[in-house]
Amino acid sequence: MRLTKRTALFLLLGGVLLAAAAALAVWPAAAAPDRPDGNIWAQAFPRPPALSILKSPAQPAPPAQEIGNDACLACHGTPGLSTRLPNGDVLYLTIDPAALQASAHGQQGLRCVSCHTGFTGYPHPPLTAQSRRDVTLQLYQSCRQCHNDKYELTLDSVHQRTLASGNPNAAVCTDCHNPHTQARLTDPGSRQLLPEARVQIPQTCARCHSAIYDEYKQSVHGSALIGQGNPDVPTCIDCHGVHNIEDPTTAAFRLKSPNICARCHTDPARMAKYGISTDVLNTYVADFHGTTVTLFEKQSPDQPTNKPVCFDCHGVHDISRVDDPQHGLRVRDNLLRTCQKCHPGATLNFPDAWLSHYIPGPERNSLVYYVQLFYRIFIPTVIGVMLIFVLTDLGRRLIERRKGAAQS
Ligand code: HEC
Ligand code: HEC
Ligand code: HEC
Ligand code: HEC
Ligand code: HEC
Ligand code: HEC
Ligand code: HEC
Ligand code: HEC
Ligand code: HEC
Repeated sequence: MRLTKRTALFLLLGGVLLAAAAALAVWPAAAAPDRPDGNIWAQAFPRPPALSILKSPAQPAPPAQEIGNDACLACHGTPGLSTRLPNGDVLYLTIDPAALQASAHGQQGLRCVSCHTGFTGYPHPPLTAQSRRDVTLQLYQSCRQCHNDKYELTLDSVHQRTLASGNPNAAVCTDCHNPHTQARLTDPGSRQLLPEARVQIPQTCARCHSAIYDEYKQSVHGSALIGQGNPDVPTCIDCHGVHNIEDPTTAAFRLKSPNICARCHTDPARMAKYGISTDVLNTYVADFHGTTVTLFEKQSPDQPTNKPVCFDCHGVHDISRVDDPQHGLRVRDNLLRTCQKCHPGATLNFPDAWLSHYIPGPERNSLVYYVQLFYRIFIPTVIGVMLIFVLTDLGRRLIERRKGAAQS
């Protein structure tokens, strides 16, 4: 074949596509070690080195930048200033200058008018908000000027979709970050989440998801974070992401959920500290339940599965230690109750047929172990003996044939 320009181009394109596919295949594994403590979404999309303010072409030149904070604080620094909105809600108008100064924004020298771009003095542009919530929904849009990357991430989140469907109470930027008091969240040098910020995350979500927070606080994960500031356990965002939180009730989320747990529970360095087995994923995948879920995830990720995933047995926000005397799965009644959710007829000895997370060994599940061992020795021996037999037989025939040829 002659290599024309067209075929050369074709081959090049094919090569690039192949390389891209290969990169995608190894990508999650390669991205993971970067930021072991962070959430999985942040690991997949590492932080940009600098703020998007530098890159964003849409950023308007801040008008009236010469208006200093004093001009605004002359009124807004007065304690107890408030106004009443058309629906009767009170809007508090006092801003604490010291808190603003100490905040991440104050430290950057941002002024009132950096964010409140339409304001030059008093009177203000007419207030169109009907309620306190309207004020938030109008003003949070200003974050976009400087943090467009975060803004774009939120567009596809479950919170934005809830807003779009007409529920105004879903979280926007300022529900999680008070613009006037927000402290630094990341280390300016390394861009890593600061330990004190990490511990605060569940409280941020608790403002609106208090029932889940209360469960989490009691769980093996939450009690370690909130009680001891332990950085090894997951906060809400390690499992859900932050700005692009997706709907966790879908079939797709359920099917991939074992991978969320596995990120930590297959990490030997993290688990060794607690003496927790790292075989929980491979034993789960080898199990009839897990095998089916894994196959399902590959073939039909949007179909619901009735096979259990980690959280069907362990719980979600209320996961407890397996040896917890009240809720632990090592307690037989608790385990049986878990099986009965899907195997209603199960009786007390039903779980015995199941290997749990144990790799069969001489001490545990010994029957299975010895049967496996037997086959592991038996099958290679049988095949080996047969091979030797076939080979020697073949050799003998060849020699005989040669002898016969020599004689004739
Ligand atoms: C003379 C006092 C005064 C000064 C100076 C003043 N404000 Fe106000 N501000 C008010 C009052 C009163 C309200 C209540 C709403 C209204 O009357 O418009 C208010 C409301 C606001 C609000 C609430 C939301 C809205 O859309 O009204 C913001 C934001 C605000 N001011 C920002 C600023 C900024 C930024 C400056 C400095 C450029 C500033 N204010 C200077 C008195 C003042
Ligand atoms: C980083 C951007 C930013 C800076 C800097 C900033 N604001 Fe705000 N401000 C906002 C946003 C966003 C809101 C809406 C918050 C909400 O209610 O959800 C707001 C709300 C307000 C309100 C309405 C009451 C309230 O607390 O929601 C007033 C009044 C106000 N700001 C005044 C000021 C003054 C005065 C300064 C300077 C001393 C200032 N702001 C600095 C972004 C900023
Ligand atoms: C005029 C530009 C500007 C606007 C508008 C603005 N910010 Fe910022 N913000 C900054 C800068 C600059 C920093 C410091 C960034 C850094 O050092 O990485 C910052 C820091 C932050 C941080 C801490 C980042 C960290 O890594 O610790 C948060 C959170 C934040 N902003 C949220 C908001 C929210 C929410 C809004 C809207 C209410 C907003 N910002 C509006 C410029 C802005
Ligand atoms: C549901 C709560 C929530 C909402 C809504 C939210 N954030 Fe955040 N944000 C967080 C948490 C928690 C962190 C710290 C975790 C992290 O950085 O991974 C964070 C981190 C940040 C940071 C600093 C860390 C970084 O990666 O640079 C910035 C800047 C920021 N958010 C801006 C915004 C802006 C702008 C919006 C709105 C478009 C927004 N956030 C909406 C919870 C929220
Ligand atoms: C200002 C209130 C508010 C805050 C703060 C908030 N949320 Fe939400 N969230 C909502 C609302 C409202 C919904 C939609 C209604 C619902 O399903 O509960 C929602 C929905 C969700 C859902 C989807 C629920 C479902 O059934 O599909 C998840 C997951 C979620 N939030 C996680 C978080 C996490 C994690 C945080 C903290 C980083 C957080 N939220 C902070 C108000 C909030
Ligand atoms: C160890 C991982 C993990 C942690 C930590 C976690 N979640 Fe979840 N969350 C899940 C999973 C998995 C589901 C889906 C459960 C289901 O489908 O039954 C879920 C479901 C949800 C839902 C929607 C369903 C519901 O029960 O209303 C919300 C809202 C939610 N989580 C918020 C939070 C908040 C807030 C926190 C922190 C206090 C948090 N989650 C911590 C894994 C986690
Ligand atoms: C069918 C129910 C079931 C499923 C599905 C399941 N587990 Fe378990 N898990 C158990 C039981 C039962 C135990 C307690 C075993 C024992 O007796 O020590 C356990 C123990 C554990 C332990 C403690 C191990 C130790 O060394 O103390 C961890 C961690 C764990 N599971 C994580 C997971 C993860 C992660 C998944 C999903 C990949 C998962 N489990 C799926 C039932 C289940
Ligand atoms: C961010 C890392 C991380 C993630 C994600 C995570 N875990 Fe854990 N988990 C831990 C750590 C660390 C401990 C030990 C905490 C301690 O003992 O103080 C733990 C403890 C446990 C235990 C108790 C084991 C025992 O000692 O008996 C179970 C069960 C468990 N996790 C199940 C899960 C399940 C199921 C998921 C997914 C829904 C999950 N974990 C997600 C880090 C994680
Ligand atoms: C979320 C639902 C669910 C939970 C919880 C669950 N299973 Fe299953 N299990 C299934 C499904 C579905 C099958 C597959 C049935 C089939 O393919 O015929 C299955 C199959 C089995 C089988 C294979 C034999 C059979 O009946 O087909 C055993 C043994 C089994 N499960 C044991 C357990 C044990 C022990 C527990 C508790 C620790 C448990 N299961 C918890 C859904 C569940």
